[in-house]
Amino acid sequence: MSALDAPTVALVGAGSMGGALVRGWIEAVRKGGGLTLTVVEPNFDPALEQALETVGAVINPPDAGPVDVLVIAVKPQTFSAATEAARRFVGEQTCVLSIMAGVPIDAIARDLGAQRVVRAMPNLPAKIGRGVTAYVASSACTAEDRQLVEQLLEPLGSVEPIAAERLMDVVTAVSGSGPAYVFLLAEVLAAAAEQEGLDRETAARLASATVAGAGALMLETMEPAGALRKQVTSPGGTTEAALDVLASSDGLGPLLRRAVSAAAQRSRDLGKR
Ligand SMILES: NC(=O)c1ccc[n+]([C@@H]2O[C@H](COP(=O)([O-])OP(=O)(O)OC[C@H]3O[C@@H](n4cnc5c(N)ncnc54)[C@H](OP(=O)(O)O)[C@@H]3O)[C@@H](O)[C@H]2O)c1
Repeated sequence: MSALDAPTVALVGAGSMGGALVRGWIEAVRKGGGLTLTVVEPNFDPALEQALETVGAVINPPDAGPVDVLVIAVKPQTFSAATEAARRFVGEQTCVLSIMAGVPIDAIARDLGAQRVVRAMPNLPAKIGRGVTAYVASSACTAEDRQLVEQLLEPLGSVEPIAAERLMDVVTAVSGSGPAYVFLLAEVLAAAAEQEGLDRETAARLASATVAGAGALMLETMEPAGALRKQVTSPGGTTEAALDVLASSDGLGPLLRRAVSAAAQRSRDLGKR
C-alpha cells in the first residue's frame, strides 16, 4: 500500500474487516505520510492500537470532530445503534465510506446527514488482503474522495470502481458471494475424487490444494482464466475429456448463470425491504 497523505479518519467497527483495514493502514503509515485515526469499537485490539502508536499515527485524539473519511465497518444490523456515535465525525467535507453489505447510499446519507458517500463491497479473502472490493460513489463525491477511498481500501486487496449502484446486486452475486461457490467447487471435486476411489482425507487435500493453487497462479501470473485453461488442455487429453462435460449445454456455464442470477435477485429483494 502507498503512503497515506495524513488524512483524518474515523473507523466505526473494527472487527474482522475493520481490523484488516487498520493493519494495512499501519503499513501505509510505516512507509511515510501520516494518519489521524479515531476508532469506535467496543473491543479494539490493543496490539493494533500499540502498532498505530509505534508507527507514529495519531490515535484517538481528544474531542475528535468531523473527519476527512468516516469508515463504517459494523454489521448492517448494528448500523442504527452506531449511527449516533458516528454522526459527530460528519462535517460538510466528510466522505463516508461504508463496507456494510446491502445498505444503500440513500440510507447511509440520510442516517448520517452526509452527501459524499461511498458504498463498498469487499469479499471474504479481504481478511488476508487478497479480496476484491467493488465500490460506487455518490455524485457529490469528488475525485479526491475516490482517490483517498481507494487508498484506504487497498489493504483488503484489489479495488474496482463500479458505474452505478444498481450493479452492486451483481457485484454481490459475483465477488461478494463468489468465494462460497469456489469452496463448493473444492467440496464437490473432493466428493468426485472419493467416488473414483481416493480416501476422503486425501481427496479433500487434493481438491483444496488444487483450487487454492489455481487461484494463486491466476493471481501471480495475471493471465486471463481462459488462457490458463487452454495452456493445460491438450487436444485429446484427460483435461479435455472433463472440460467437454463441464462446457456442455447443461454444464457449468448455464448452471453458474442461474446461480448468479438467483443471488442477484435475492440481493435486489433484500434491498427492497
Ligand atoms: N466478512 C465478510 O466477508 C464481509 C464481506 C462483505 C462485506 N462485509 C461487511 O463488512 C462489515 C463488517 O463485517 P465484519 O465481518 O468485519 O464484522 P465483525 O467482525 O462483526 O466486525 C464488526 C465490529 O463492529 C463492532 N461493533 C458492534 N457494535 C458497534 C457499535 N455500536 N459501534 C462500534 N462498533 C461496534 C463489533 O463488536 P462486537 O463483536 O463486540 O459486537 C465488531 O468488532 C459488515 O457490514 C459486512 O456486511 C463483510
